[in-house]
Amino acid sequence: MATYTIQVNGKTHSVEAMEDMPLLWVLRDLLNLPGTKFGCGKALCGACTVHVNGNPVRSCSYPISAVGTGSVTTIEGLSEEGNHPVQQAWEKLVVPQCGYCQTGQIMTAVALLKQKPNPTDQEIDQAMQGNLCRCGTYNRIKAAIQLAASGKPVLP
Ligand code: FES
Ligand code: FES
Repeated sequence: MATYTIQVNGKTHSVEAMEDMPLLWVLRDLLNLPGTKFGCGKALCGACTVHVNGNPVRSCSYPISAVGTGSVTTIEGLSEEGNHPVQQAWEKLVVPQCGYCQTGQIMTAVALLKQKPNPTDQEIDQAMQGNLCRCGTYNRIKAAIQLAASGKPVLP
């Protein structure tokens, strides 16, 4: 066990954890941030995606000891009221079905748009291909990314 001081959603937290404890469990179990989901636990589905320094990482396979001084952002830290443009586009197009994969989808989409504000279809496919959705919402996910990228006011 060791003490780790990490930045999550703009706040500093100290946690006691084993060095190989996945960031996912630190977020969910130690910091009470349950928005990030557990899917496969093997970096294969994307459900657990969060940002470290703005880059998408699979928190189920990212040990707390690797976070260092990195700045972690979870779905809870994306916007104060759930109104980030990507979240608004998701809402407008009613993207989720069961919803389980959608945190990871949104976090991956936000990271993509930060890097490429006007992604091509191919760039969207490439960025999102590792995020699985058992409900098959892929077409709506892509449309929502295109809508968010358009910069048009999304709601109401
Ligand atoms: S739960 Fe992390 S990639 Fe599937
Ligand atoms: S909305 Fe159900 S798994 Fe994606």
